[in-house]
Amino acid sequence: MRILFIGDVVGALGRQTLTTYLPKLKQKYHPQVTIANGENAASGRGITEKIYKKFLQDGVDVVTLGNHTWDNKNIFEFIDSAKKMVRPANFPEAVPGMGMVFVNVNGVELAVMNLQARSFMVDLDDPFKKAQELVAEARKRTSLIFLDFHGETTSEKQAMGWFLDGKISALVGTHTHVQTNDARILPQGTAFLSDVGMTGPYDAILGMKKEPIIEKFLTALPQRFEVVEEGRSIMGCCVIDLDDNTGKAKKITPIQISEDHPFTE
Ligand SMILES: [Fe+2]
Ligand SMILES: [Fe+2]
Repeated sequence: MRILFIGDVVGALGRQTLTTYLPKLKQKYHPQVTIANGENAASGRGITEKIYKKFLQDGVDVVTLGNHTWDNKNIFEFIDSAKKMVRPANFPEAVPGMGMVFVNVNGVELAVMNLQARSFMVDLDDPFKKAQELVAEARKRTSLIFLDFHGETTSEKQAMGWFLDGKISALVGTHTHVQTNDARILPQGTAFLSDVGMTGPYDAILGMKKEPIIEKFLTALPQRFEVVEEGRSIMGCCVIDLDDNTGKAKKITPIQISEDHPFTE
């Protein structure tokens, strides 16, 4: 099985970039499953039902989320009916939505899980303990397991990678919006990438307008952050090949598309 995973889609420009490049990426790499992180899809904050449906229409199979899950209040109206969307599984019990879904590819199932890290982030339930529970549950059905680990620090992501090595097929990080150069297969067969990067505004700071952020660093005064809506864009994604029999990863290829790293057919 080949998986294409697309990092945090930010605002209208991010959505547009996905609509433009997903068909090209599919033509080039032929993934059977496409997963995209949509936590910043609505103006940089959260996701709406309309945007979720557009992702599916564009060819995304599963949408993952993160700390911005609840930022657009429309989420509460559709999250429980969105069968192809996962939010971090380590939110407290009783919070709406699901932390894991299964995708069926010609009779082979892939479990897609979403967890949120805790270093420099909101103190959710223990993601390591939750990961163990989810893996046990997923393994009753399949050995093909993908985790989007949404977190700030490379150390916590690496710790989770080693913790789950051999137990899941792939762990790819999101949230920092910057792609790391550490894609690898861990010794027991888990593909690992600390962060896949973002999809959206390129001449920006993590997708947001530069000036207020620089001003905040200069003055330490509060600023209103706004998403960049036009201009150049970047797409951060990766392709992962899994052995369908063992669930182990064979290869992980990070991809960045921008004017500095142009897409080639
Ligand atoms: Fe994000
Ligand atoms: Fe995030």
